[in-house]
Amino acid sequence: MGKSVIIINGPNLNLLGTREPEIYGAVTLKDIEALTRAHGETLGLEIDFFQSNKEGELVDAIQGAAGNHGGIILNAAAYTHTSVALQDAIKATGVPTIEVHLSNVFSREEFRHHSYISPVAAGVICGFGAKGYVLALDALADIID
Ligand code: DQA
Repeated sequence: MGKSVIIINGPNLNLLGTREPEIYGAVTLKDIEALTRAHGETLGLEIDFFQSNKEGELVDAIQGAAGNHGGIILNAAAYTHTSVALQDAIKATGVPTIEVHLSNVFSREEFRHHSYISPVAAGVICGFGAKGYVLALDALADIID
């Protein structure tokens, strides 16, 4: 179980590829899944990949990581900026979590500068597009070891 990671993606990330390409680029969520699965293999990490537009399902996925995954990579998307429930879930499970954003949220609207995830995350990676997920995997591999 220690060598397994779950990558959890929040609302509207299923639309990557067509959604605001000037911000998020042309990469699709399927591309990110393939990229992370391939990189996970090089690190000896098994990858579970999940996306939901529903806050409660994201809470369930975080809770489900306890005892099943050694780490979480979370792009909570818009819920990053609103969700006490996601912060509580991360705290409750105690599974090391890395917060990822494709865009540099600090160069965007002010409401994106606050995160409910950051205070309970092991670290935060933003602004590097899909590569952020790969960087997060490298970081988690060290944490899990
Ligand atoms: C995002 C940034 C969030 O502010 C936004 O709501 C998203 C995507 C990112 O990956 O850059 O949906 O998490």
